[in-house]
Amino acid sequence: MSLILAPMHGLADAIMREHLTTIGGFDECVSEFIRITHTVHSNQTWLKSIPELTNNGRTLAGTPCTVQLLGSDLNTMPENALKVCQLGANRIDLNFGCPAPSVNKHRGGAILLKEPETIYQIVWAVKQQLPDNVRLTAKMRLGYEDTNLALECAHAIERGGASMLTVHARTKLEGYQPPAHWDWIRTIKEHIKLPVIANGDIFSLQDYINIKKQTGCTHFMLGRGVLRRPDLAKQIQHYEQTGTIRPNESWLTIKEYIHQFFKLCMDNNNLNKYPMARLKQWLNMLKNTYPEAKQLFEEIRPLQKNQEIAAVLEKNT
Ligand SMILES: Cc1cc2nc3c(=O)[nH]c(=O)nc-3n(C[C@H](O)[C@H](O)[C@H](O)COP(=O)(O)O)c2cc1C
Repeated sequence: MSLILAPMHGLADAIMREHLTTIGGFDECVSEFIRITHTVHSNQTWLKSIPELTNNGRTLAGTPCTVQLLGSDLNTMPENALKVCQLGANRIDLNFGCPAPSVNKHRGGAILLKEPETIYQIVWAVKQQLPDNVRLTAKMRLGYEDTNLALECAHAIERGGASMLTVHARTKLEGYQPPAHWDWIRTIKEHIKLPVIANGDIFSLQDYINIKKQTGCTHFMLGRGVLRRPDLAKQIQHYEQTGTIRPNESWLTIKEYIHQFFKLCMDNNNLNKYPMARLKQWLNMLKNTYPEAKQLFEEIRPLQKNQEIAAVLEKNT
């Protein structure tokens, strides 16, 4: 069994990955997608987005971090993959699911689900460049408009040489609209030999129990659920290890996580709006679960200075 923190562009940046993997329960995390166009990124670009590269490809909590690439250029995808491996990456993932129009317009992400043969060529080309000790995986949605090519895409990823496949069980057109089609994850799993990582709408321990039963998978990826409930991975891990249910962490503990996160953001970049923006964004998600987070969010929302926010957090300790 393994639990993986999902790649989430704009949400799970290096600071959030460090924070969530320190809170615990994860076996692995995945970077936000790095877009590959017609050039090879500089060392500086890679290290800025994925500082884990300087720590043996791990977060400071010791959790392995997979580097996700997004693009379709058959020359620069492998070149960039090789470059980031030389900088310290040992796990590469390829994105075949991003629904953003700006990305799809340039033949990246979910648009490629219309072209299984192109998916095969990309996976194969990257695989040929990678050193043997580097793991190549891929992440897909069920399709662009419909699921007609879902199995073909999964087969293409397998034939191309990936060793694991994450399935986010929705089409591009479905966006993030519930429900995720977990039955499709089982279908894909039954048609390919690769281990499948089940993803989509795991917001609680009960969701985990349900998706596990419905898909038959042993690997799971958590995205928005863990931002709304930071102890979710720990709860699932505890359930797997003991068969018992770990009580939800108290607001006091969650509040401590919030303070630690703001401090991490301030230590990283206290001169601009980064800490303030990131904290507001996270509180906005936490308020789905904790009424106290809603109150704190309302109090902090109008503030425009990091120091003012620090004072509110201080007052709330
Ligand atoms: C804000 C946001 C950004 C995302 N960015 C990425 C990304 O960079 N790469 C990727 O493969 N998936 C990305 N996803 C999709 C998630 O990895 C995941 O597949 C999706 O959220 C479903 O899982 P969940 O229901 O557990 O959140 C993103 C999702 C969200 C909400």
